[in-house]
Amino acid sequence: MRRKLVVGNWKMHGNLAQNQGLLDALAAALNDRTGADFGVCVPFPYLFQAQAALTGTRLSWGAQDVSEHAQGAYTGEVSAAMLNDFGARYALVGHSERRALYGEDDERVAKKFVAAARAGLIPILCVGESLGEREGGVTEAVVARQLDAVIEAAGLDLFARAVVAYEPVWAIGTGKTATPEQAQAVHAFIRERVAQASRELADRLTIQYGGSVKAANAAQLFAMPDIDGGLIGGASLVAEEFVAICMAA
Ligand code: PGA
Repeated sequence: MRRKLVVGNWKMHGNLAQNQGLLDALAAALNDRTGADFGVCVPFPYLFQAQAALTGTRLSWGAQDVSEHAQGAYTGEVSAAMLNDFGARYALVGHSERRALYGEDDERVAKKFVAAARAGLIPILCVGESLGEREGGVTEAVVARQLDAVIEAAGLDLFARAVVAYEPVWAIGTGKTATPEQAQAVHAFIRERVAQASRELADRLTIQYGGSVKAANAAQLFAMPDIDGGLIGGASLVAEEFVAICMAA
């Protein structure tokens, strides 16, 4: 039985005062909930704040991106080792906003994945199709391409550290959630794709769903056999809403 994992993706939101309220509320509400795992991926400057607020609690923290390089002349970048310095457990890689707005292609995403996994972080690899791709009937081809690029570059030893987040681009921040059946179908496809490389790894792979998850739809999504929790954007910024989603897990 795989444990459920719910991770908040704050995106570029928050400030010191708001974050403190949110982190304290989450720690208070979730610390004695042992049935699932919880985390938040915060903007880089607030990693220190997340570490201070969550150390000693059951909640983990992480970043929303990571450099593919270990160190060097890469102005503006943040390495996996730096994330480790602040106790990060997770790094999102290949979020659709990074792919669409910052030109991250499969090759770059795979390199970031490798850098994060080598440093001992858990990379949360985001995959998912756009609306046009879904309507064009190429959802599985797109997801397979995004997955294969990483499995090939990382190899199974490093891929074993992965969490995969299926995030249909048309569902992110739009209020349009995939139905539990639509999501389950793609999750099952992802698990089968990984099973072609290793059945054992596929069976224990955590596959989160992301895209307009709310307290109102979380339980139905998480009840599907291949949906192992969620990556939560907007709803992770409201303590009661995020806590309710975590409870559903
Ligand atoms: P959303 O975002 O929950 O606001 O749709 C999900 C994500 O981008 O990770």
